[in-house]
Amino acid sequence: MPELIWDGKYDAAGKRAAPLRVPLPFQTVETVNETAQERQRTLDFFAAERSPDWRNRLIWGDKKYVLPSLLAEFSGAVDLIYIDPPFATGADFSLPIKLETNSFTKEPNVIEQKAYRDTWGVSADDRRRGVTPLDRYVRWVYETLTVLRDLLTEQGSIYVHIGPNVNHLVRSCLDEVFGVANYRAEIIWKRTSAHSDVGQGARHLGRVHDSILLYSASDRFVWHPPHVDHGDKYVKSHYPYVEKGTGRRYGLWDITGPGGAAKGNPRYEIFGMTKFWRYSRENMESKIAAGKVIQPQPGSIPREIRYLDESRGAPIGTVWTDINPINSQAIEDSGYPTQKPEALLERIIEMSSDTGQLVLDCFCGSGTTAVVAEKLGRRWVACDLSRFGVHTARKRLLSVADVRPFVVQNLGKYERQFWQAAEFGDSATARTAAYRSFILDLYHATPIAGYAWLHGLKHGRMVHVGTVDAPVTVGDVKQIVAEFRKAVGTGKEAPKEQSVDILGWDFAFELNEIARQDAERAGIELRLVRIPREVLEKRAVEQGDVRFYELAALAVSVAQTGRRVTLAIEDFVIPLDDVPADIQKAVSHWSQWIDYWAVDWDNKDDTFHNEWQAYRTRDSKDLALSTGHDYAEPGEYTVVIKVIDILGNDTTKTLPVKVAGRGTA
Ligand SMILES: C[S@@+](CC[C@H](N)C(=O)[O-])C[C@H]1O[C@@H](n2cnc3c(N)ncnc32)[C@H](O)[C@@H]1O
Repeated sequence: MPELIWDGKYDAAGKRAAPLRVPLPFQTVETVNETAQERQRTLDFFAAERSPDWRNRLIWGDKKYVLPSLLAEFSGAVDLIYIDPPFATGADFSLPIKLETNSFTKEPNVIEQKAYRDTWGVSADDRRRGVTPLDRYVRWVYETLTVLRDLLTEQGSIYVHIGPNVNHLVRSCLDEVFGVANYRAEIIWKRTSAHSDVGQGARHLGRVHDSILLYSASDRFVWHPPHVDHGDKYVKSHYPYVEKGTGRRYGLWDITGPGGAAKGNPRYEIFGMTKFWRYSRENMESKIAAGKVIQPQPGSIPREIRYLDESRGAPIGTVWTDINPINSQAIEDSGYPTQKPEALLERIIEMSSDTGQLVLDCFCGSGTTAVVAEKLGRRWVACDLSRFGVHTARKRLLSVADVRPFVVQNLGKYERQFWQAAEFGDSATARTAAYRSFILDLYHATPIAGYAWLHGLKHGRMVHVGTVDAPVTVGDVKQIVAEFRKAVGTGKEAPKEQSVDILGWDFAFELNEIARQDAERAGIELRLVRIPREVLEKRAVEQGDVRFYELAALAVSVAQTGRRVTLAIEDFVIPLDDVPADIQKAVSHWSQWIDYWAVDWDNKDDTFHNEWQAYRTRDSKDLALSTGHDYAEPGEYTVVIKVIDILGNDTTKTLPVKVAGRGTA
């Protein structure tokens, strides 16, 4: 078989380079739509790494880490895969953000740009060696397909949705991974009728289609051939009669056996006529008895009655022109630029899976595959690198009537631990020191020695670097503040400002408010700064793409009447570094920054359990800013509020609530 070769396919010794296959455990960061009992059971099961109660899963992460991590659980267990990866055009990552009155396009964030670079980026050295972005793209696709192949059952199928610019390369990879014999079809989806890419004098044809390449794991794949309704013209010519009484449309079909005896047709007599017929005598007799084969007039050739409402429609071929793209007026439009129509996924999922089977999409974007799988009663696992994609998918899933409980997961601290060990070695002390100085360097701070909790200095402010495996807690902040007091006035490394920057990957729920206030009482200003995930990525670091952002501040009021607790968001302030000036100007009220918020009324210091949520939709840009809850039992509860802003970042706040013995007054 001819072979496609790309840079990096073989190592120096001529051995095939194998993709990264480190399985990392998933962290469940949110449960959606579960009762309290179900929630506890799910968390116990996930903690014990077994899950007899299936939960659909929405995962935020790079497929590079997510797919190998899924292998541990799902090797040979996925029934259907649909992927719609970026097409090597770079256009896949920009994101239009809509306000009530204005909209603007958010440039790809650093993680998203980085994924783009990782996929197609070529260093100067590589370029000198003649390596092209397509070499990198093919390597990335190939690695993805090899892990996906291992996830698929022997009856499974994979659909790869791809643009005509890279279709030929991806198909070669599919041939290699799945075998030429398992190629089933190339579907041409006419995705647009606009020929807007063909301007005056253009020397190419209008590019109006995408390809969807279909392969199966074996020849025993699940297959339900699709049909579409017959067109009007066909109905009129093939079903011209209307049955008296019932009004059913029908046609009279030829039942003689074309080709006669040579084609194996039987010859016998019906209605006084001896001919070669299409059916066996036995079959024919039962059709005559059922009134399905009649002689329309004495002496005429018998025919079969076929009703239009019993017809499955016309079989569908490989060219699909009947599914329109999402337009901005479509009800299902989520505003995600590369969103695919639900009708497309409906056809694919129905064609190649059965109810209850497992569907996977590791580039789920706005979540179309998960939404359709949910509606069709399939189980699903969906993943995307984009924080905004995962958020859009969550909102779309929540709007599906009777959506089954699902969990939102990531690889969180496990991914960071893996990175830390790989990057900074085995010795714990040396590793921690090297890690801290690496982060301080990225933050443009100078390392300082002699302290346990203070690690650097930047513009006269002290800097603390949080560990990779735990959130910064109130206890940590107390230690930082106590050490800061001792540090004041001791030598040239002493802080010039009464302030500390606390860098963390995660922050304990209550931290933003409580710790900041505590520190302020001690006369110290705290800045809580998130360490961005892209520090894990060499190339982002090399290219100076790492930016640190301060946490947003959320103010919520609580009112109580008997057992009813009412929450109202009073203020929300986001650091504006990432927001273009025009959009800052367009925001006249703080609530416009909020896209979505949700409440866990009884958090047990575990995963956020989404029990109520409000969000802006395409049709309604209004957002409720207050909500209430009636507690069944008196007691002390912890309420957690999670806000997701229009840039896709989330902010949480924890409030203790004491519910007294009486019901609502
Ligand atoms: C063409 S879009 C998918 C759109 C989706 N089919 C829908 O209907 O909304 C491609 C998606 O791949 C995601 N992506 C790109 N690189 C990724 C990676 N390495 N891991 C996971 N997702 C990635 C992008 O964030 C983007 O959402």
